[in-house]
Amino acid sequence: MKKVIHIVGARPNFMKVAPIHKAIAARTPLQQLVMHTGQHYDAKMSDVFFADLGMAAPDIHLGIGSGSHAEQTAKMMVEMEKIFLKEKPDLVSVVGDVNSTIAAALVTSKLAIPLSHVEAGLRSFERHMPEEINRVVTDRLSDLLLTPSRDADANLLKEGIDPKRIHLVGNVMIDSLLSSKEKADQLPTLKQLGLTPRTYVVATLHRPSNVDNPKLLAGLLSTLIHVAKKVPVVFPVHPRTRKMIAEQGLAAELEKTPSLKLVDPMGYLEFLSLTSQAQLVMTDSGGLQEETTALNVPCLTLREETERPVTVEVGTNEVVGTDPTRIREAADRILAGDVKKGRVPELWDGRTGERIADLYARVLGVETKRAFG
Ligand code: UD1
Repeated sequence: MKKVIHIVGARPNFMKVAPIHKAIAARTPLQQLVMHTGQHYDAKMSDVFFADLGMAAPDIHLGIGSGSHAEQTAKMMVEMEKIFLKEKPDLVSVVGDVNSTIAAALVTSKLAIPLSHVEAGLRSFERHMPEEINRVVTDRLSDLLLTPSRDADANLLKEGIDPKRIHLVGNVMIDSLLSSKEKADQLPTLKQLGLTPRTYVVATLHRPSNVDNPKLLAGLLSTLIHVAKKVPVVFPVHPRTRKMIAEQGLAAELEKTPSLKLVDPMGYLEFLSLTSQAQLVMTDSGGLQEETTALNVPCLTLREETERPVTVEVGTNEVVGTDPTRIREAADRILAGDVKKGRVPELWDGRTGERIADLYARVLGVETKRAFG
């Protein structure tokens, strides 16, 4: 039987692989294995997502953990090579732009194993971002490039990728969102945090370009304090950010504003229950720009650029940069009720996993159990 290996490693990978795995199991006779690199290892950064998404534990766990980019990527590559040689997959499927993705792309292509990149073609055009390097290299090496939106197709065509390898399948993360929303809505998250719907803000910050720069981080945190003086702000803090806040001695300042609630990273369902009822989300995350667009919740992206322009052109996202004055002005405007209207982009319909499963079955020459429709 033909075999597909899915690679996961960091938080945003789990909600992308879950719907693909489920659809392949339901619609095709393909054998599948999930390989977890261990890039994220804390229970709140990894295990909780498997439980929330109804995914079985990974079939293979490499247990790599944190490290410098070279160290982490190289360790993953060494272990992956052994597994690929043993398992001999017919296709390796990678998602997104994390270090686990580029590690698998490099090993797979050197072993001449067909490689599929889900979420191909996104570009921030900022080479200082590790994710941009990961995206560009992975796309170069991929045999199948599965895109979430037409802007991604255009980027790949401009880079000379053969159009026959590009497949517009839609946004697979939205499959997880739509199938989890009802469950998330039943959670008592708002009550536990003393919040009422549409009268609070959710904030996240974890990009190295924002949080590893002390001056920038202090400026961004000052905008959260500003907003928290008007409405409660819930801020689930990524480990990288928590470390920087401690190192820079910024915690005392944040504690002076109790309506700015610093909490631990949240599970998928708990976080979805929070974002879906927020008045505004302020973030530097890529996935959250997409989720807020799908949820029709206003989003301010605290970066100078986005690799997900469809969320701005069609959705609720506004890229406001990192200047505190500009961020405060935009947040004040939205809290005063002046919000940008958005629509849900094409093919963000909850069926991307099915389209991917059918494509993999076709490419690997196996019959699908059900015709796509
Ligand atoms: C990674 C991805 C980023 C993604 C993000 C989601 C890369 C280059 N970056 O960034 O694209 O948006 O995941 O969260 O792949 N740490 C823990 N516990 C964990 C994992 C990490 O404490 O379970 C700490 C460690 O100190 C580690 C740091 O967080 O050094 C950064 O983790 P890392 O995986 O290197 O990058 P992220 O910033 O999480």
